[in-house]
Amino acid sequence: MHGVLSTFNIFYIFLILWYSIHAKKCIDKFPKDFKFGVGTSAYQIEGGWNASGKGENIWDRLTHTHPEAINDRDNGDIACDSYHLWKTDVENLKYLGVHHYRFSLSWSRILPTGFVNQINKDGVEYYNNLINSLLANGIEPIVTLYHWDLPQTLQDLGGWSNVKTADYFADFVRVAFRLYGNRVKTWTTINEPYRICYDSAGDFEISAVPVLPGFGCYLCARSLLIAHSKAYHIYDKEFRKQQKGKIGIILDSSWPIPKTNKTDDIEAAERYIQMMLGWFAHPIFSKDGDYPEIMKKTIQERSAKENYRESRLPSFTKEEINALKGTSDYLGINHYETEWIENFEFPIGKPPSYFKDIAVKRSKNPKWKPSPDIVPWGFYKLLRWVAKEYNNPLVYITENGYGDNNSNGLQDSNRIVYLAEYMKAVLQAIQDGSNIKKYTVWSFMDNMEWRRGYSIKYGLFNVDFTSPNRTRTPKTSAKFYKQLIKTGTIPKGTVFQ
Ligand SMILES: *[C@@H]1O[C@H](CO)[C@@H](O)[C@H](O)[C@H]1NC(C)=O
Ligand SMILES: *[C@@H]1O[C@H](CO)[C@@H](O)[C@H](O)[C@H]1NC(C)=O
Ligand SMILES: *[C@@H]1O[C@H](CO)[C@@H](O)[C@H](O)[C@H]1NC(C)=O
Ligand SMILES: *[C@@H]1O[C@H](CO)[C@@H](O)[C@H](O)[C@H]1NC(C)=O
Repeated sequence: MHGVLSTFNIFYIFLILWYSIHAKKCIDKFPKDFKFGVGTSAYQIEGGWNASGKGENIWDRLTHTHPEAINDRDNGDIACDSYHLWKTDVENLKYLGVHHYRFSLSWSRILPTGFVNQINKDGVEYYNNLINSLLANGIEPIVTLYHWDLPQTLQDLGGWSNVKTADYFADFVRVAFRLYGNRVKTWTTINEPYRICYDSAGDFEISAVPVLPGFGCYLCARSLLIAHSKAYHIYDKEFRKQQKGKIGIILDSSWPIPKTNKTDDIEAAERYIQMMLGWFAHPIFSKDGDYPEIMKKTIQERSAKENYRESRLPSFTKEEINALKGTSDYLGINHYETEWIENFEFPIGKPPSYFKDIAVKRSKNPKWKPSPDIVPWGFYKLLRWVAKEYNNPLVYITENGYGDNNSNGLQDSNRIVYLAEYMKAVLQAIQDGSNIKKYTVWSFMDNMEWRRGYSIKYGLFNVDFTSPNRTRTPKTSAKFYKQLIKTGTIPKGTVFQ
């Protein structure tokens, strides 16, 4: 099934030899109950954008009407064609030996109008087939209910700035629990609400929709949190007793390092993580609920200076705060990078923006080891911060991975270094008391990376996007991960090149 080049084999044998020479004793072993997997999302891999009754979503609309918004003017019309090639995907997952596969449901494939008035049988069957096939092969499906591909109909009503969208989401998740909950035991409500909402530079960034900077992001976040809370309570009240699964949210966060030891910079780094991760984690995982105090204070003060009547951060009611608290059986963490943070007061003036509110400048320290883009100790610090800040919640690492441009073909040794080093950081955090039970590589295969199109590759599998067959070939990192899963041990001796 997998095209095997002999030079490739020789390289791999050499790699193993190198490891075994340098391996002294196996302290890099994960606990027995620790689970490994890989992740994808619907828009990024499925293709079949208008196949068998699927409705249009915001990414279809954006890529078709504004191709210039995407690197190389590309789109997800076909992507990895997983809508047709899902059997190959399951075979490749089996090859890796993963315990779980994280993927998302395309809302508009199941509900083409976005509403429950019409259910698309073929869309429903697609996920039935995938889930059944995963289970038949001993792979746990971890299902994301919303991974950024909002039905266009709902965008036409205001998208996530409209809090009513949370009700339509609640209707959708009830359908999903009914259809698949007898087999799906780990649900994720929303993937990376931060990325959905933030409006850096007033651009339409990753949300695929224009937002009014300094306002839109906060309305969006509020609706997403309410949508999450509704989904959790629906599962809890109507399904949990029979289906006995878990439901949680996935948040993304970098780790901020203050650029100097000046108090201003130390405070800026703390403010940054509170207004990035804390924005969504505090309402759900903290004892008091609601947004972090520093976030409320910062935006309130700046809004006043800008002469607005009230804070641009819309508040929650008491009921909403209580309904949100504790609504996650686990915390999913997506992590990629460490950032260098310095305090920076933007002058008051229009328009406002989320980054002006945070008042930081971000960069990377060129001296970080082993490289500015590979900072495993930043991941360790983030994981320990989360344990301390939120009373040591159950954590699943739901995304972690390395992007490159396949310039070394299938021999992606820097990805192997990244994964090995970051998994060591996870293991260290576990040994120091963090309650982490799953690790998930982003990504299973090269795919449509949103506005970066196909220009950046995160896959363990290469996908030939020039072939109508979208042929998948394991990179060296796939063989590395397969071996790691089999032994539960991180091989020694990875070197950064
Ligand atoms: C789907 O879209 C393609 C263009 O991407 C078009 O050629 C085709 O006719 C469409 N199919 C349906 C069923 O609308
Ligand atoms: C800040 O202080 C710590 C501890 O004293 C030290 O390890 C670190 O190098 C200092 N950082 C900078 C940027 O000066
Ligand atoms: C690909 O990445 C390499 C290494 O980072 C870089 O030197 C090269 O310029 C990149 N190539 C393209 C086409 O972006
Ligand atoms: C695509 O797959 C089919 C069926 O397996 C095969 O016959 C064909 O040669 C492949 N085409 C390419 C371009 O790889």
